[in-house]
Formats: sequence, C-alpha cells, structure tokens
Amino acid sequence: MFLRVATVAPLLSLLGLVVFSEARPQSYAVWAADSGIARGQGNGLLPSGLPTVSYEHGEFQASFWGLRLLYELTGNKTYFDYIQAGVDNIVFPNGTIHGDYNFTAFSQDPVRTGPTFIYLFQQTGESKYKTAADTFRSQLNGQPRTAQGQFWHKLMYFNQGWLDGIYMGEVFYTAYTNAFDANNDTAWADITSQFKLMFDNTLQNATAPNNTGLMYRLSLVSLFIDLCSSQLPARYIDGYDFSHTAIWASPDRGHSPEVWIRAQGWYLMALVDVLEMAPANSGALKTTLLHNLNVLAPKIRDAADPTSGVWWLVITQARRALNYFESSGAAMYIYALLKAVRLGYVEDADGSIVAAMKKAYNYAVENWVVSNSDGTMSWKNTVHVGSLDTTGDFNYYVSQAVDLDDLKGLAAFLLASLEFEKL
Ligand SMILES: *[C@@H]1O[C@H](CO)[C@@H](O)[C@H](O)[C@H]1NC(C)=O
Ligand SMILES: *[C@@H]1O[C@H](CO)[C@@H](O)[C@H](O)[C@H]1NC(C)=O
Ligand SMILES: *[C@@H]1O[C@H](CO)[C@@H](O)[C@H](O)[C@H]1NC(C)=O
Ligand SMILES: *[C@@H]1O[C@H](CO)[C@@H](O)[C@H](O)[C@H]1NC(C)=O
Ligand SMILES: *[C@@H]1O[C@H](CO)[C@@H](O)[C@H](O)[C@H]1NC(C)=O
Ligand SMILES: *[C@@H]1O[C@H](CO)[C@@H](O)[C@H](O)[C@H]1NC(C)=O
Repeated sequence: MFLRVATVAPLLSLLGLVVFSEARPQSYAVWAADSGIARGQGNGLLPSGLPTVSYEHGEFQASFWGLRLLYELTGNKTYFDYIQAGVDNIVFPNGTIHGDYNFTAFSQDPVRTGPTFIYLFQQTGESKYKTAADTFRSQLNGQPRTAQGQFWHKLMYFNQGWLDGIYMGEVFYTAYTNAFDANNDTAWADITSQFKLMFDNTLQNATAPNNTGLMYRLSLVSLFIDLCSSQLPARYIDGYDFSHTAIWASPDRGHSPEVWIRAQGWYLMALVDVLEMAPANSGALKTTLLHNLNVLAPKIRDAADPTSGVWWLVITQARRALNYFESSGAAMYIYALLKAVRLGYVEDADGSIVAAMKKAYNYAVENWVVSNSDGTMSWKNTVHVGSLDTTGDFNYYVSQAVDLDDLKGLAAFLLASLEFEKL
C-alpha cells in the first residue's frame, strides 16, 4: 500500500506554486522504507543472492535508526522481521558471521552491521546475535592503529584514518560498550579519542585553500609521527609505501586534498547517534562530541549552495564545472543537524540551522525523489563510491558513477525524513 505523490505537483511547482502540503505522501520515511523493502534492498544479500556483510545494509537496518525507528514509531512488525531476516542472512545459527566478511582484513565497514546484532540480541535473547557482536568487538581489539591510536580504516589502507570509519566502527563500539561493557573506562576513552583524533587531524582551518571549516576526508597525520617515533612498533614501518600514500596526503598534516560531501556526512551522523547512546559515565565522550558537533553544524549550514540549499559533491570546489549536488551527503546532513537541534545538542537560537535543513529537504524531495508507476519511490543522484585508492582529487570524485536507488542515499533519506516529519 503505497502513497503516491500527486502527479500535478511537478507541474504546479513549475508555475512556482507551493503545493507541498497536498502533494506529499503522508510519510516519506515510510515510502522510502517500503520502497527499499519492495526492491529487496538492505537484506544481507547481494543481487546475486550471495550473503554480504555490508555497511549500507547496516545503515538501512540501522539498529537504533532507520527501519528500527520506523518499527518503534509505527509498531509495524514488517520492519522488525525485515531487519531480523537480513541479519539471519549473514549470521549462522551458531553465531558465525559469514558471506564476504573477512576478520583478518580488519575493515571497519562490515562492523556497521553490528549495532543491529546487539539490538536483535536485546529483543530476542538469542545468543547467536551476541556471539556475532562479540566477533566484531574482538576485531576492534586487534584493529591496526596509527601511533596516535586512530584505527586504520582497513588493514590494506596503511596508516589511514577515514571519516567514514567513525560511522562504520565507532557507532558499534559505542553500542557494544553501552550494552555489555558499560564500566570499561578504557573503551570510553578510546571511543572519545577516535572521534577527537579524526577531528583534529582533518579539520580545515583558516589557512586552507577554499576554507569551509569542514573536515577533509581522511588523515595520514600519524605517518609523520610514526616515522619519528622512537617507540615505533615494527608493523608501522613494514610495508610502508611512501609512493602510494604520498599521492594525496598533504605534506603538513597528511590530510586528503578535498572535503567530500559524504565522508563529512558519515562523521556527523556518528556524532549525533553516539551522543544519543553515550551514558553519563562515558568520561569525556559527550563533551568531545558536543564540541565537534557545535563547530561543524554552523559550517555545514554555511557551506550550502545559497540558491538550492544543498551541497556540492566536492564542497571545497563549489560551482566548478563537473561538480554537482550530491544526494546522500545532503540527506545525512539534514538528518544529523535536525536531530542535533531536536535533542538540544546544538542550540539554534535564531532558527537558521533548522531553516537551512528544511530548505535542503525541500530541494531533495523536489529533485531527487521519483514516483514510480508501481507505487514505489526512487532516489536519485547518489554517488556510488569515493575511495582514496588513487588520487582523491577533484577529478577523481566527479568521475565516479552516480546511482539510482543507492542504499547509502536512500537509507540517509529515510533517516532525514524521520527527522523532518518530527518537526
Ligand atoms: C507494514 O509495512 C508493510 C510494508 O513495509 C506494508 O505492506 C503493510 O501494509 C504495513 N502494515 C500496516 C498495518 O500498516
Ligand atoms: C558455524 O556454522 C557454520 C555453518 O553451519 C559452519 O560452517 C561453521 O564451521 C560453524 N562454526 C563453528 C565455530 O562451529
Ligand atoms: C582476508 O584478508 C586478508 C588480509 O587483507 C587477506 O590476506 C586474505 O586473503 C583475505 N581472505 C579472503 C578469503 O579474501
Ligand atoms: C575494555 O576496553 C578495552 C579497549 O577497547 C579493551 O582492550 C578491553 O579488553 C576491554 N575490557 C574488557 C574487560 O572487555
Ligand atoms: C592549518 O591547516 C594547515 C593546512 O592543513 C596546516 O599546515 C596548519 O598546521 C594548520 N594549523 C593549525 C593551527 O592547525
Ligand atoms: C577553489 O574553488 C574554486 C571554485 O570552485 C576552484 O576552481 C579552485 O580550484 C579551488 N582551489 C583549490 C586550491 O582547491
């Protein structure tokens, strides 16, 4: 049972008329979720039918978020069952995580599905979900780190801390510590440090070209420290590939060359989601996150394109030919900042942050939501990937494929809609 956007809406908006109230479906959140489910998205399986342990599925099922929130909001068990079936596709009855999961690759990406394991354990009491969560927790215990202590994004990305990894790994780290290890002060301090190091090492400052005050994609800062450190563990030097890493790392702080919309989005979502979970006894975690969020929130507001209200794919190269407005990052910003204001993490005394997010949301709905003839909606303009395997420069980012119904964008739109509909 899908609700359709009235087909007259685009015509009327061409005439400049405001028709949102009658043209919109009752809930874009529900529409986005039901459309993803109808397409079988985020269910732990690849289109080929093989199991996959994917952060995109984690974002959609999203334990505390997405489908789970919709389940709590509507009481519709379809959402819960979909989450559970998705996890059962990647966790054997004995708790082994299977599919394409590779423990020794030490990638933070699959760990994003972990909060869902914890949620299902709490809901069902079935030990396989706890066993699966324990596996990710032990992965983090062995996760390679820079000399400063930042988790590498993956073993193969030598010494690289990625903004993306904070959403993939640290949301789970927090959920796990909260659920099973709440008095582990070392863990709370470690989570705090993951956020802080990433922030300090990648934030643009006034001396940066085209400064936006936002965060570069990733940091290799500790490379320098590692090479100078007298207490250097052997593995930090073994396999060190200067020619590869030097391609994009800045000579001073080691950051990547551009502010990429989605990386900043992952980090912002992690800030608000972890703030929501962090208990009182989590040491400096809350104050650290609140500080970072309050630095970033007005910068995100100000970095929006003044006409459309949304953001360029490469934020540091506004209006440059081939740059475009990207939809997953925008949805992430809307979700994170509306939630930040709603929960009082960011004070929005003049209402300018909420106003900016509303403007962006309206643009998203008008331009990126497509009503399909089968009653589902589609979501446009999400960039497929943005890796740093190569140069990580402007030309690299703008040459990446743009997807329809990419789950990274659709799931973020579901989250953004949940927040927008609470306004
Ligand atoms: C629950 O959600 C599913 C789709 O996800 C929908 O088909 C069904 O009608 C919903 N049930 C209720 C009672 O709203
Ligand atoms: C868990 O179950 C799977 C599938 O049946 C099996 O291949 C695997 O060996 C089992 N692992 C353990 C540790 O028992
Ligand atoms: C798992 O990852 C390790 C480290 O990257 C790699 O050496 C190994 O070949 C991978 N295993 C599989 C089955 O892909
Ligand atoms: C507490 O957290 C630290 C850091 O993650 C970890 O090394 C340690 O094993 C944890 N302690 C317990 C009892 O789980
Ligand atoms: C500001 O950023 C530039 C470029 O990354 C860097 O060289 C400089 O050390 C930074 N200054 C501070 C105070 O962080
Ligand atoms: C600054 O932004 C302009 C406009 O988008 C762009 O053409 C230029 O390349 C950018 N400069 C740097 C150093 O990134």
